Amino acid sequence: MKIALACDHGGFELKEIVKEYLIEKGYEIQDHGTYSLESVDYFDYAVKAAEAVASGEADKGIVVCGTGIGVSISANKVKGIRCALCHDVYSAEMTRAHNDSNVLAMGGRVIGKDLALRIVKAWLEGEFEGGRHKRRIEKIAIYENKC
Ligand code: RB5
Repeated sequence: MKIALACDHGGFELKEIVKEYLIEKGYEIQDHGTYSLESVDYFDYAVKAAEAVASGEADKGIVVCGTGIGVSISANKVKGIRCALCHDVYSAEMTRAHNDSNVLAMGGRVIGKDLALRIVKAWLEGEFEGGRHKRRIEKIAIYENKC
């Protein structure tokens, strides 16, 4: 599975931790930056990872900024992206099961390393339940395609 990663300076340290974890677990990585703690604009990076997922170049994306909010708002502007901001394992499991989220957002200044990696694991291993949840995400896509 190929994972597109992106962050701003506020998410850089956590992005690096997630990257190391994913490589160790055998995932293929696309790192869309940023690559240092120098101040940048989260949109420029989040949108690159989101576009990689939307185009099929990557299977899923993980985006990180200080709070996770800026990158999640940005990623959700890309057609076909369902980005979920998760700071607990339950939400990570549920957003895969119910929303079939294809991008995960986290805040590097909000949660610690161990919780972040548990969230990543739960999210990547979670399966979409389909059924009534498919109908619900289809409504989002229909609306998105009208815009
Ligand atoms: C950067 O200081 C910070 O605003 C950004 O990382 C993020 O938290 C925005 O939503």
